[in-house]
Amino acid sequence: MRSEIEPELLLHADQELNHAVMVVERIIQIGGTPVLTPAEWMKLSKCAYEIPSDPYVEAILKQNLTGERCAIQRYKGIADFTNGKDHSTHQMAVAILNEEIEHEQDIEDWLGDIERMREDLRKLKG
Ligand SMILES: [Fe+2]
Ligand SMILES: [Fe+2]
Repeated sequence: MRSEIEPELLLHADQELNHAVMVVERIIQIGGTPVLTPAEWMKLSKCAYEIPSDPYVEAILKQNLTGERCAIQRYKGIADFTNGKDHSTHQMAVAILNEEIEHEQDIEDWLGDIERMREDLRKLKG
């Protein structure tokens, strides 16, 4: 399934970069300073970075799913926190949240496909 999943994950990666751009621009608009070093990102992030040391597609997808679910919780938190107080940040958080939910769904679908393929193989082997 690599040939099907890889281009989709590359699309997700583009969207993730765009989320970072949106968040940074909004932080600057409201007079803040974005986190400027990778070391600080690691320290401040509430979502863990999982090293993709296992190249098997199912392992990559499971790590990804953890990341998407963490992102969903974070953007929900930002959307709730800004609701009725900061309309622009709220709208941004909701827009990003919707993409994260789509990412989660894509990954759940692929993992479901892999599980079904595994079941079919088991039946074939009898
Ligand atoms: Fe994202
Ligand atoms: Fe995502």
